[in-house]
Amino acid sequence: MAETFIKIPDNYSGYHLSHFCVPKHYEEDLEDIMIPWGLIQDRTERLARDVFQDVKNEPLTALCVLKGGYRFFTDLLDKLTALNRSQASVSVPLYVDFIRLKSYENTDSTGDIRVVGGDNMVSLSGRNVLVVEDIIDTGKTMEKLLAILKNHQPKSVRVASLLVKRKSDSTGYRPDYCGFEIPDKFVVGYALDYNEYFRDLNHICVINDSGKKKYLTPQG
Ligand code: HPA
Ligand code: MG
Repeated sequence: MAETFIKIPDNYSGYHLSHFCVPKHYEEDLEDIMIPWGLIQDRTERLARDVFQDVKNEPLTALCVLKGGYRFFTDLLDKLTALNRSQASVSVPLYVDFIRLKSYENTDSTGDIRVVGGDNMVSLSGRNVLVVEDIIDTGKTMEKLLAILKNHQPKSVRVASLLVKRKSDSTGYRPDYCGFEIPDKFVVGYALDYNEYFRDLNHICVINDSGKKKYLTPQG
């Protein structure tokens, strides 16, 4: 059986920056292009179809996890609404909501999170919820978010994450829909940031050492 995600192997060296367009202000800060924007689009189209087929004819609340998830969220929603237009016999009424996750301060050992924004999540009660994330790293954050969401009594919760990182300290958590499984490298672009930089880059790229040094201080 085909895997439900695309696995990018550890020895994958990506595309050379000169083969695609990247903003001049980031040219010296990137190692290579791991996933070009066009490939993200093609993969997202397929994930939208999978979501559509699973929820057919029931309303869906798409919950965007900001800020990193915003580009994947808008592209996934665009593709879902295109399916709603093109299919004559099936349609999925869509609602949207937006949350941000914050770590509790001064509790660095627990790593507990709290949800800010969203319509207090009251509107999630009885709904089919699709959480839309950019990346699952260790899986701890998502497991905590899912525990919080359960308290709001949704009818169902599924998770779509564009990326899942292969990490030795992973909890083993797997999203229901995953675009790409990637090596344990720090990636930026397509709304994924490093200290708030690189969200304005279309492709998903690997940051290099000089980029890490240059943007060490958060953008203010
Ligand atoms: N890039 C950006 N944000 C992240 C990453 C990453 O590789 N891993 C976890 N959060
Ligand atoms: Mg995220």
